[in-house]
Amino acid sequence: MSVTASDQVASFAGAVAEGRVGDRLWLYATYHCNLTCSYCLTESHPRIADRRALDPALMVQSVRDASALGFRSVGITGGEVFMLPSFPRTLVAIAQILPTIALSNGMLFTDRVLDELVLLAGLDCAIQLSLDSHDPVANDRFRGPGCFDHVVAAIPRLRERGIRVRVATTVVDVDANLDALCTLHRSLGVPDEDHIVRSVVRRGRAVSEDLGFDLEDGATLPELTLTADGSFLHPFAPTVHDGVIDTDLRISDRVGPLHEALAAFLSHEQTQLRGSDVVRNVR
Ligand SMILES: C[S@@+](CC[C@H](N)C(=O)[O-])C[C@H]1O[C@@H](n2cnc3c(N)ncnc32)[C@H](O)[C@@H]1O
Ligand code: SF4
Repeated sequence: MSVTASDQVASFAGAVAEGRVGDRLWLYATYHCNLTCSYCLTESHPRIADRRALDPALMVQSVRDASALGFRSVGITGGEVFMLPSFPRTLVAIAQILPTIALSNGMLFTDRVLDELVLLAGLDCAIQLSLDSHDPVANDRFRGPGCFDHVVAAIPRLRERGIRVRVATTVVDVDANLDALCTLHRSLGVPDEDHIVRSVVRRGRAVSEDLGFDLEDGATLPELTLTADGSFLHPFAPTVHDGVIDTDLRISDRVGPLHEALAAFLSHEQTQLRGSDVVRNVR
């Protein structure tokens, strides 16, 4: 490794140790989706004009590079990652390199997909399914018909294949009582540490639907995020509004090489924030 590369590894490790940035690399695999959720950050939907997919080989190579640069985990999101027919194989390849979480709406677990995902058993990989309420009607109001039933059916089918499942809850009403939802996820074998809850952020379709709250500077931990439109500050940054990508939190219009994206990331003013004056309340 060159002196410059080892300097960059040390700078990144220092920023992680100081809590200024996270050690996770995020990949936006595609913006295409089978659903049209009312609050969707990425305005994803079935007939989207620009799917903004990342090449699978580029995703795997980026994760190899990330491992060499000191990243310790990977998050993969979209859009709906399982809209990509090759995604199960890409996920297995990535999870063989670094601990991985893949975010999914849980609608597309056909027998073919589940058979391919069996290779995840024994790897440090979780599939994080979106479930907003214990009540099917309330859940499906924002996410779409049949969503609740699919997610509740998918959890045991994944778990019985040895695949870890997490649950993500996106709340429109910040005062909603989630006790019954927690009872449900526990009954499905998902422990509290694998349940994350976040409020709707007012970006993407949430702006058009007048939902959620504005994302304040520092509210979310900077984590280098790669998309087909370049590199971004964190996974709530590469949003789409009226069909156009938001570039306010873009750090580079290039995706690679990863060390260049990391250099741009580490010089961004928001990766300098630290200490008790920074409230990280969005995840
Ligand atoms: C954009 S989705 C992509 C993955 C997958 N399609 C899904 O819905 O789980 C990732 C997560 O972001 C959440 N999300 C979508 N729009 C949001 C918004 N405006 N604010 C906060 N979270 C949002 C979704 O509920 C989901 O849990
Ligand atoms: S939140 Fe996920 S499932 Fe819903 S439209 Fe957006 S990408 Fe699709």
